[in-house]
Amino acid sequence: MGNEVQEAEVRIQELTRELNDHNYRYYVLAQPSISDQEFDKLLAELQTLETQWPELQLPDSPTQRVGGTITKSFPIFLHQKPLLSLGNTYSLEDLEEFDVRLRKGLEGHPFHYIIEHKFDGVALSLHYVNGILKHGVTRGDGKQGDEITQNVKTIRTVPIRLKGALAGATIEVRGEVFMHTADFIKLNQEREENGDPIFMNPRNSTAGTLKLQDSAEVARRPLRLVAYYLDSQDLTLPNSDYERLALLQDSGFFVSPFNQVYSTLPEIKTHIDSWEHKRSELPYEIDGMVLKVDEIQLREELGFTAKSPRWAIAYKYQAEQAITQLNGVTFQVGRTGAITPVAELEPVWLAGTTVKRASLYNADEINNLDLHIGDQVVIEKGGEIIPKITRVHLPGRHAAGMKVSFIQTCPACNTTLIRNEGESNYYCTNHQNCPPQIKGRIEHFAHRKALNIDGLGTELIDQLVEKGWVKEVTDLYSLTKENLITLNRFGAKSADNLIESLEKSKRVPWPKVLFGLGIRYVGQTVAEKVARAFPTLTDLRSADRESLVAVPEVGEKIADSLYSWLHQDPNTPAFLAKLTQTGLQLSLSPEDIPEKISDKLEGKSYLFSGVFTQFSREKLQQMVLDHGGKIATSVNKKLDCLVAGENMGPSKLSKAQELGIHLISEDEFLSLLK
Ligand code: IVH
Repeated sequence: MGNEVQEAEVRIQELTRELNDHNYRYYVLAQPSISDQEFDKLLAELQTLETQWPELQLPDSPTQRVGGTITKSFPIFLHQKPLLSLGNTYSLEDLEEFDVRLRKGLEGHPFHYIIEHKFDGVALSLHYVNGILKHGVTRGDGKQGDEITQNVKTIRTVPIRLKGALAGATIEVRGEVFMHTADFIKLNQEREENGDPIFMNPRNSTAGTLKLQDSAEVARRPLRLVAYYLDSQDLTLPNSDYERLALLQDSGFFVSPFNQVYSTLPEIKTHIDSWEHKRSELPYEIDGMVLKVDEIQLREELGFTAKSPRWAIAYKYQAEQAITQLNGVTFQVGRTGAITPVAELEPVWLAGTTVKRASLYNADEINNLDLHIGDQVVIEKGGEIIPKITRVHLPGRHAAGMKVSFIQTCPACNTTLIRNEGESNYYCTNHQNCPPQIKGRIEHFAHRKALNIDGLGTELIDQLVEKGWVKEVTDLYSLTKENLITLNRFGAKSADNLIESLEKSKRVPWPKVLFGLGIRYVGQTVAEKVARAFPTLTDLRSADRESLVAVPEVGEKIADSLYSWLHQDPNTPAFLAKLTQTGLQLSLSPEDIPEKISDKLEGKSYLFSGVFTQFSREKLQQMVLDHGGKIATSVNKKLDCLVAGENMGPSKLSKAQELGIHLISEDEFLSLLK
């Protein structure tokens, strides 16, 4: 036994070190040295070992990166030194004045400038104690912020243990949390596919993500950190900021490789100019440059005004803007019936592309802008991505232009729109017969990540829906070659191909079929988890709301959506009856069911209640399944064991005691698995 512990300990240390190193190579250096699959395999090995030997988990274990804790409200954290904001300017003359002020303030004492990119994200302060990340704190009002440590640990470019020059140190690091543009676009695409509202820009989505209560969700969002500040109460650090940042880089942080030190303003201006256009080639957005005195001692001499330091200034690039005419507003109907307003613009050239349309997001946005048809509007590439209207250029307003207001009825089927409480979107509820919704559902079903039906493109879907041949995805399976070849530009060969793709889709596994049904909020990951928890459609239909909530990744909102789709929509029973006849996979095939680690909990049911300290509830439930057990969803006679965390609900406890159900702690549960 002693030997076994030792082996586990050594292996856990090895895996932790290796995985942290791979993480660093992948996210900070962008030079991965193993494949994603190999990484996942090592991570799974570490997770299994940590399950068996929880006491051997290291404080910098990379398994923390996947999150799993739920924080109901974030504790308040007082900043050691306030997080100040910066004076902003758009003009180079202001930089000259800044330079003159500095030289005067420092009485001719020589100094250097450090110039950095101004990342367009959210500020974060990190506290390391003896080399380990202890607190991650938002800026808040500058004096105190929210402690969001569990969320911060999921950010791959935040080292959990300092290495190199600062290994073991007690320091504060500050930086900006941001997203790569491509990651942001992908995130929005996924949200659109899942029927979630999209984010306006990477900064908004970063800010929203950091405040999520579920750290597992944070872990799925592509956040990064760039470090731009290092301080310590008990270490002597270099006087040069640039050298301090080099220490951070050596310790595992991502530090911008474009930081530069100069001694004169003309050099600074040249540097700023050279990035005005080059910035569009970066994989992330910067909205300007930050110019700071490099010598920390001199910064202290210069001090602060009420709001910002005297030793730094932000130079912001003009957002690339254009003025054009608003020709109209159209309203698009999405797959779930959500209505998105779109501005139709007189085509105009902006930052490398011709812009004809801009997103208006929702009714509030339209009201805030006070748009009239024919207005001259100022458009900006919202962080160079989706163009948006920032304001009306009033001198260009024609008296006759009609005020734009949100429509009351569906533009496609005339049904009166509804707005759910607390949501900014309007919906058309005619899911059965509204053509764009039908088309959207078919497109989603045919998508590569769902049933992957080759040859079923938008144009064909339009025709199939307009002819009335397809109203539901199930109708696709009744299409015949004879019907198909009568369609526009559709020959015998295409018909054969489509029929073959449809045949092939009958082998697509149940989780993807469930995703393909396009139930609101049931994205790929959720569909996967639900399909594993309910291996057949029949199981899923007999699940109560509570057992849906018990599925990992499924919260109240998703459970409500699934439950009402299954049970409250009057069309569902007939639809499911047809679905069963298509021959699609509506149950998991044996090879899709993951192998068990052991039979230790065979046949026994477990219920977890309260807050757990060593592992998240999701993870604990997964362990039950891995060892052959079952997850129960309520306290009743059939329950074998209730695992009680902290702050467990009193009603569950008394009911369990009444029924004489075996009650154990998290530690006792974990020792069952050893
Ligand atoms: S230094 C007092 N450096 O911009 C010093 N800030 O408008 C302020 N920011 O709150 C921090 N990139 O969130 C600094 N290279 C950079 C930055 C940066 C982005 C953000 C930061 C700050 C805000 C000030």
